[in-house]
Amino acid sequence: MRKAYDIGFGQSEQELVIDELPLSGTLPKWVEGTLLRNGPGTFNPGEQDLRHWFDGLAMLHKFTFRDGKVSYANKFLQCDAYSQAKEQGKIAYSEFATDPCYTLFDRVKEVFSPGFTDSAKVNIGKLHGQFVALGEPSLQVEFDPETLESVGVFAYDDKVKNHVTTVHPHADRDTIFNLTTRFGRVSSYRFMKLEKEQPHQLVSRQKVKQPAYIHSFGMSPNYLILTEYPFVVNPLSILFHAKPFIENYRWKPERGTRIFIFNRHTGELVKQTVTDPFFAFHHVNAFERQGELIFDMVVYPDPDIIDAFYLDRIRAEEKKLPGGELRRFRLDPGGGGEVAAETLCDEGVELPRFDYDSLNMDGSYRYVYSIGVDRAKKNSFYDQIVKSDLQTGKAKIWKEENSFPGEPVFLPNPDGKKEDDGVNLSIVLDEANGSSFLLVLDSSDFSEIARATIPQPVLFGYHGSFYKTI
Ligand SMILES: [Fe+2]
Repeated sequence: MRKAYDIGFGQSEQELVIDELPLSGTLPKWVEGTLLRNGPGTFNPGEQDLRHWFDGLAMLHKFTFRDGKVSYANKFLQCDAYSQAKEQGKIAYSEFATDPCYTLFDRVKEVFSPGFTDSAKVNIGKLHGQFVALGEPSLQVEFDPETLESVGVFAYDDKVKNHVTTVHPHADRDTIFNLTTRFGRVSSYRFMKLEKEQPHQLVSRQKVKQPAYIHSFGMSPNYLILTEYPFVVNPLSILFHAKPFIENYRWKPERGTRIFIFNRHTGELVKQTVTDPFFAFHHVNAFERQGELIFDMVVYPDPDIIDAFYLDRIRAEEKKLPGGELRRFRLDPGGGGEVAAETLCDEGVELPRFDYDSLNMDGSYRYVYSIGVDRAKKNSFYDQIVKSDLQTGKAKIWKEENSFPGEPVFLPNPDGKKEDDGVNLSIVLDEANGSSFLLVLDSSDFSEIARATIPQPVLFGYHGSFYKTI
């Protein structure tokens, strides 16, 4: 049996278009629409292998649910990084933790033009009707959700070309917010606002000497929350491209984690405070209650989780993958006082999802769905799906021998009465069969409703979303 770590971090076998996947179980009638997912399609694009989970060249996946059946298609994101890898058999752009093999001459040429990848691999967004593959370099790739063909480049912020953005924009009705980081002689964090058919607008700008690696931000009805972990970079080393992108960052816990709170209507910085050092990829939800600003995150004591995603460490199986802690923070946005923090649930989790469409910025939300690591196992990658109950602190778990699930996207039952009346959709790598399946879980009790088998392994991916219409 080939190890899941090998088949999940290798090479996608084929680009497929399948009208009907073999399905066990019966899908609820209300599950109709399209799940679009993004993630790596290959870690071996040529003679030089990629080194890190966040390096793979982007591949889009599409599952369409109609009349109780599931169709499937996958396609490499058509971008320059992919065409050059295909044509030249080598890496042409800098990925998250892998650089092309540079000569000294190449390095000199690259100054102030670092050649960050355009392989936007991390998430999918529907931004004012356009479907966009989202990556951390600020150029994003629009694609056709029917054919998965690329349409063109989409930029959040014309001023931060070649710099970075989060792949987790927030939406409030028709307005989309995102956070970009500009590196330069004067570096800055820049919150941007996208309104339909309007030019992108700058909401807030915060100058910073050593920007942090920031993967997401929080948004409540009145505030934007910037959590600046002490995992920071000298901007010159990004501009001069001394090392692969993430390897320029340094952990400086003595700085603590700085928290900046902006009024999102006026853009004004209303509070700046500092708390204990921690690292995180994901904010979960943020809301306000009786004047307090409350936000939930998946946090780690340090950025070792980034090192844990180097493929040689995953394959070596020497260390268990660190599990993220679901932690709630509280502060008074209008006054003094410390930041209070509490652990919400004991399970180690990552890639958190909740009922965003109904409960974003709403403090009544109770359930978070995520992947996690089974404490009883030695696995160096995610091997279970976790439903965390924020009221009781208890968790429900789905796991199966030799199975490695991906992000469990939550889809609410439109006629449901309870928050967890719905299904979770997760692509699971099945080590024993050397293939993957799309698992449909009942979100209430975490029992299996159905599974649709894909005739090849799907590499371990990142994020996606379900759309009733595309
Ligand atoms: Fe993410």
